[in-house]
Amino acid sequence: MDISFKNEIATAIGRAVRSAYGDKLPEIYGAFKTDETGFDVFIESKLEIPKDIKLGDYAFPTFVLAKIVREKPVEIAGKIAGLLDNDSFSVAGPYINCTVSTSRVAETILPQIFERGGGFGGSTIGEGKKIVIDFSSPNIAKPFGVGHLRSTAIGNSLYRIFEKLGFECVGVNHLGDWGTQFGKMILAFIKWGDRKELEKEPVKYLYDLYVRFHREEEEDPSLSDDARNWFRKLEKGDSEAVELWNLFKDYSLREFERIYKILGIKFDHYTGESFYNDKMDAVIERLDKAGLTKMSQGALIVDLEEYGMTPCLLRKADGATLYSTRDLAGIFYRHESYDFHKAVYVVGSAQQDHFKQVFKVIELLGEDYADRLVHVGFGWIKFADKAMSTRKGTVIFLEDVIDTATRKATEIIMKKNPDLPDIEATAQMIGLGAIIFADLGVKKHKDVNFSWEEVLNFEGETGPYLQYTHARLSALLRKYEKDVAADVDFGLFQSLEEKALLMHLYRFDSVIEIAAEKYEPNFIAEYLLELAAVFNRFYQRKDTHGKLIKIISDNEQETGARMLLVAGVRTVMKEGLRLMGIEAPEQM
Ligand code: ARG
Repeated sequence: MDISFKNEIATAIGRAVRSAYGDKLPEIYGAFKTDETGFDVFIESKLEIPKDIKLGDYAFPTFVLAKIVREKPVEIAGKIAGLLDNDSFSVAGPYINCTVSTSRVAETILPQIFERGGGFGGSTIGEGKKIVIDFSSPNIAKPFGVGHLRSTAIGNSLYRIFEKLGFECVGVNHLGDWGTQFGKMILAFIKWGDRKELEKEPVKYLYDLYVRFHREEEEDPSLSDDARNWFRKLEKGDSEAVELWNLFKDYSLREFERIYKILGIKFDHYTGESFYNDKMDAVIERLDKAGLTKMSQGALIVDLEEYGMTPCLLRKADGATLYSTRDLAGIFYRHESYDFHKAVYVVGSAQQDHFKQVFKVIELLGEDYADRLVHVGFGWIKFADKAMSTRKGTVIFLEDVIDTATRKATEIIMKKNPDLPDIEATAQMIGLGAIIFADLGVKKHKDVNFSWEEVLNFEGETGPYLQYTHARLSALLRKYEKDVAADVDFGLFQSLEEKALLMHLYRFDSVIEIAAEKYEPNFIAEYLLELAAVFNRFYQRKDTHGKLIKIISDNEQETGARMLLVAGVRTVMKEGLRLMGIEAPEQM
């Protein structure tokens, strides 16, 4: 934000502290390890947002000074406030509260949103820096289930968030397209497979084969050896094995891409595990040279016992490389190719140990970028609706979830608004909004308990609720019929409801920054829920006689000012939803 209210307030308080405690300044600066200018920054960092907006917009807790100046916080507050010759400051016990005038906030914020549109809230702090985001990364020989949905939703949102802050993002799909499971797939396909069937529904068909293999393997353990043999053949480039592997890969990729398209997601690179096949020897050589490797029961490992970790496996006794070897190769490759500011891995918390090990190995190599590798973990998705989860074990196919969501959203629209044009497209937006929000609506480390009733509720804390709020804002703008203009009388913004809404809009950019800093799209989700809540309080505002204040009234000036606010809220709602990867329908 060009104008920082916090900064202005901190400067004023800083000035007052300096004149109140001139003789104790060396002690104060010493206690906070700062100097005069740093002190104002320190004060700014201590400013809180009062729970009740009536108290003010920011509050400075004077406790932080009490020990150093050896006075009671209440006294300090009184003393400092007495020196703040401005009626926007007031004292409440140990706090110095500060109120920014509503018209000033409106004047600062609304023309900016009006001019920048969807660009509002963006910044250039990331300019010249690259963020590599490894996300989604499904496995080809296993289904694209809802388990990968969370990585897909979080990763896509982080991509958009970082991009908004000016970073250059590189989206990488580290497809699970290599490994011993391909030996099983090839063998299963040779034994029981059918190309025509594979073509029809490749991902499900491959999954069925996979399940069958594991079932039959229990009866006939010799299948395990045969499968290992097939993987060895594949690694050696045997033409039959390679042909089948390519077939599985092509069909699966085509299906994944179809799902990504529905979700509005693009990757910059599909560099899966097999991409690193020819880079394995170099990885092992490098670790050997650095003296990090060691043999253990025939396998080549990096011993990490000293750091309280299990060993990082590089090569099995049969010569096959592993998931971790390929991730090491991936890190080298990404560093060389992108010279990243951060390399982010959006992968379930179940793989936390894996990433700790791999990152530790990079650190042991003495690479300075080791601390720029970030594992963004997350919890599981659990389906409350048992009927959805019993499909051959516990796998739930993402595509089935998308279809169900769209169907259910269609049913809801048919009941609520059957005349809506283009019901199909809107239902898909709502269905996807529901699914994505189910993932981003809770903090990432928590598990998601998915239930259809909850995620599709237009009134709960859901994606469709936010989309519905956006549609209502759009309806208001359509009803207004005139063009919204930015040159309104900002003095007309007086009410607390407007103030709350304006202050919330003002905070959009800082929320985006926090979401990026913590790799947590949920901050955006919470922000938008609150935006919807404060908007509703504004929308339902009553006058002193208890009569609803209509947003569009006969008073042109007032209406014009309110519509500028409405347009601002709509812009931010739409942009916030976009940052989560959710579309905002105009009507629903
Ligand atoms: N394919 C893996 C899985 O489904 C996730 C890959 C994540 N990315 C990575 N670089 N390891 O478990």
